[in-house]
Amino acid sequence: MEKVISWIDARFPLSASFKAHLSEYYAPKNFNFWYYFGSLALLVLVIQIVTGIFLAMHYKPDGDMAFASVEYIMRDVPYGWLIRYAHSTGASAFFVVIYLHMFRGLLYGSFRQPRELIWIFGMLIYLVLMAEAFMGYLLPWGQMSYWGAQVIINLFAAVPFIGEDLSILIRGDFVVGDATLNRFFALHIVALPLVLLGLIAAHLVALHEVGSNNPDGVEIKKHKGPDGHPLDGIPFHPYYTVKDILGVVVFLIAFTAILFFAPEMGGYFLEANNFIPADPLKTPPHIAPVWYFTPYYAILRAIPPMFGSQFPGVLAMGVSVMIFFALPWLDKSPVKSIRYRGPKYKIALALFVIAFVWLGVLGVLPSTPLATWIARVLTVVYFAFFLLMPWYTRNDSYKMEPERVNDK
Ligand code: HEM
Repeated sequence: MEKVISWIDARFPLSASFKAHLSEYYAPKNFNFWYYFGSLALLVLVIQIVTGIFLAMHYKPDGDMAFASVEYIMRDVPYGWLIRYAHSTGASAFFVVIYLHMFRGLLYGSFRQPRELIWIFGMLIYLVLMAEAFMGYLLPWGQMSYWGAQVIINLFAAVPFIGEDLSILIRGDFVVGDATLNRFFALHIVALPLVLLGLIAAHLVALHEVGSNNPDGVEIKKHKGPDGHPLDGIPFHPYYTVKDILGVVVFLIAFTAILFFAPEMGGYFLEANNFIPADPLKTPPHIAPVWYFTPYYAILRAIPPMFGSQFPGVLAMGVSVMIFFALPWLDKSPVKSIRYRGPKYKIALALFVIAFVWLGVLGVLPSTPLATWIARVLTVVYFAFFLLMPWYTRNDSYKMEPERVNDK
């Protein structure tokens, strides 16, 4: 073994990379529950790629065959049901993991200087992930696939001047059709995964350049021992590889429980309407996106049309996603971690989470006048979290961060 490794090392930096990024990569010793989700996101990524490859072996991206090919996978392909349900459950699991991963950033100020680029790459990943999920959802060519795509692509038509052309460019036709299915397939299985992998690589390179933040918001590189290693750091391997394996085991228990016992998750992961083949002549009575898009969908529906144009709602929805990019520059607090921040940030973050979740719930339900008004109030709360942030973070009380990690 040693001989093989030294043969490789003479030709490729295997041991050097293992040392630099694992066995001698020092991470803060106080990672907690919230630090599981980065490695879990990598795990879900692998699940999606592997199951996606096997799905692509049997799936047919053709308006006349797509629906039947998915049913064929479910019924006739050996373990096809497992592969398909792993992929569909994986899509929702990806967003659960990513939302918790992003929330950790808000808890501990991980987006702050010097980690702005980690955050920006993360946000680009999030955008690509949304596009990836949206395009994948069209592929089974069920009623919800078809009409969901129709509704969302029509939103682009509301953009002034270029909207109409833009929506035709996305569809490849005047209505969602075979051309749309083919291009979404190409983007879903080749283009976007490549972009995603590139962005994830950049995310991790940036992370290893500056090092991880931690629940205390202390920069561990400031205090190094005589050996040059951070005093509050521990080698990633074996300490965090072992810790992450625990996360993987617990995650897989939950994941397989859903996969084997409730893959449709009561219609939240796979909707009943999507087991009906796409019918361009029959609009389903209630069209709603999958749960991970519904907070933004609720914001879209909350904003009334102006001069007969849906553009204000579309704009608000777009801004509600993009505004996360600005976080590193909106937060003016002298400390990063919520542990040392004052009540204003804590209340603002709590209100934001309530608004985000409640909007998500409203986005699933059919709209009523009352629900629309509640969504409007929640939309104001949502935007206030960001727009008032420079004010409330500057004027909040705070405790000074400790010099060293406080692991009592
Ligand atoms: C496929 C998606 C993603 C993967 C595979 C991924 C992977 C990772 C990994 C492995 C870490 C280090 C472990 C950890 O801190 O949990 C990390 C850290 C981080 N990620 Fe991601 N990430 C993804 C998406 C995102 C998104 C969408 C955001 C935010 C918009 C984000 C923001 C961050 C930040 C700020 C850190 C540093 C956290 C800290 O040091 O406290 N990531 N990511």
